[in-house]
Amino acid sequence: MNILGIETSCDETSAAILRDGRELLSNVIASQIDLHAKTGGVVPEVASRQHVAQIGGVIEEALREAGVGYGDMGAVAVANRPGLLGALLVGVSAAKALAYALHIPLLAIHHIEAHIYANWLAEPDITFPVVCLVASGGHSEIFLVRGHGDYQILGRTRDDAAGEAFDKSARLLGLPYPGGVLMDRLAREGHGNPDAVPLPRAQLGPESLDFSFSGLKTAVLQARQSAQYADVPTQDWAASVQAAIVEPLVVKTLRAAKREGVGHVLMAGGVAANSHLQETMRAACARDGLRLTVPPPRLCTDNAAMIACAGYYHWSAGKIDALDVDTLASERLA
Ligand code: KG4
Ligand code: ZN
Repeated sequence: MNILGIETSCDETSAAILRDGRELLSNVIASQIDLHAKTGGVVPEVASRQHVAQIGGVIEEALREAGVGYGDMGAVAVANRPGLLGALLVGVSAAKALAYALHIPLLAIHHIEAHIYANWLAEPDITFPVVCLVASGGHSEIFLVRGHGDYQILGRTRDDAAGEAFDKSARLLGLPYPGGVLMDRLAREGHGNPDAVPLPRAQLGPESLDFSFSGLKTAVLQARQSAQYADVPTQDWAASVQAAIVEPLVVKTLRAAKREGVGHVLMAGGVAANSHLQETMRAACARDGLRLTVPPPRLCTDNAAMIACAGYYHWSAGKIDALDVDTLASERLA
């Protein structure tokens, strides 16, 4: 059973072929980062046009790399929500056309559900329930996953997402878009001092599982303007900001696991690729006797393999979508 996955929700055009829910035959990702770096962020109209230009070639490349043809596909899975509407429509239209022409099922996938399912590509035998931290450019949430497709939200950000905090702070440090991955590298390779600049960690009370990152952005701006930190090297700034984002993510995820009595923690979304977050979460889980699964970095950031994987579990459960399925800019997973 081969599933063609398609992802075009933001600034990556991606297609992947997944066999039997486990064997990843290809995962082609055409990034638009260079295009959007010029404007310091994603311009939706520009992203949509680029998806249109790339989608056909990306799907062909995914088939070629996998050594299969259109006739070998058993279903097509596509991210149809949430995301940039014009960008999503490109992938959804391609998927509908293929499902119609090839007479195969269409599987419409929630982008955040797919991020969570990237964990099943790393570790196919996950026993429920689990707690999953989703931290990306637009989302910072903690989910209790009770079974396939069964989600309960335990905590969420009250303002900015963790990836947004990385990218906006990076801009204040003079780093190019998208700053998160650069900040990670700078802090790691430069052995940055996380205590160089004192920055706030919004706890929101001893019991809270929510996040707040908007105060951090203001604090970084004020510290940048203060003469006191004028001589702090960039790698120390990067390490300080990174620690201020990572600490609440780890504290609240472990608090959630403890409260729910869950022994297995998953991580998902672009920020899950952050090396400091992974190290800190790994140490905290080891200390508390929890199992931790983290997808490899290429499966943490946006990709079509995760869409195909979520699609496989939809297909297994008989959750097939009609060809007139809608495309939505926003929708909560739970
Ligand atoms: O999941 P994703 O690829 O797209 C969304 O669905 O938003 O996440 C992108 C976010 C961006 O904010 C990016 O800066 C951040 O993930 N990111 C990182 C790292 N890699 C990607 N943030 C910190 N460290 C990284 N290594
Ligand atoms: Zn994403």
